[in-house]
Amino acid sequence: MPDFKIAPSILSADFARLGEEVDNVLKSGADVVHFDVMDNHYVPNLTIGPLVCDALRKHGVTADIDVHLMVKPVDRIIPDFAAAGASYITFHPEASEHIDRTLQLIQGEGCKSGLVFNPATPLDVLKHVIDKVDIILLMSVNPGFGGQSFIPETLNKLREAREIIKASGRDIRLEIDGGVKVDNIREIAEAGADMFVAGSAVFGAKSDSDANTYDSVIKAFREELAKAKV
Ligand code: DX5
Ligand code: ZN
Repeated sequence: MPDFKIAPSILSADFARLGEEVDNVLKSGADVVHFDVMDNHYVPNLTIGPLVCDALRKHGVTADIDVHLMVKPVDRIIPDFAAAGASYITFHPEASEHIDRTLQLIQGEGCKSGLVFNPATPLDVLKHVIDKVDIILLMSVNPGFGGQSFIPETLNKLREAREIIKASGRDIRLEIDGGVKVDNIREIAEAGADMFVAGSAVFGAKSDSDANTYDSVIKAFREELAKAKV
């Protein structure tokens, strides 16, 4: 079985107690913290920046932090996120004038670099930069908001991306973001994803016994993933 990673998106967490929320979700078995950065320009919403990433590190978070940049321009903010403790930094190709340079900038800062593809964006750009990509993120909703429904066409795109990764012979993660739930994570894994962002499905599902634990939803994800034929 692939080394599946579950990456809760803190976009749906309670921001008034963010450190505690992140601690709880990691204690419940999540692998990676997905960190959505929105600028009210590239996407019509505004969220959090490097200060908050740094605050999570200072709070004691040691898990990988997966910074998903939905900002334009991209380059100016990358060193700040690297200094703030980002592990992965991904960006949308539409948001950078010089994609190859941005990928090099991320890796040069010591982070894992990745490209994010909106539902209607083809994967063509990967062809010439695949040697500089550590992670491919496919959006299964249009970026900007949590709680939207999974776009089924993304399953075909996952298969296409998995083929590209195989052909490259490189160790590249294939991440999916948007509308991931317990009832669809298995088919998403079967289509080729190995890293799963889930916001509303995780932070909207507090366990009955303890309002601050996410054990049951993370466990349900793992059970579904264990059944995936991959
Ligand atoms: C949307 C963000 C997602 C979002 C996913 O632009 O990139 O990470 O938080 O939320 P859900 O899992 O609720 O679709
Ligand atoms: Zn995201």
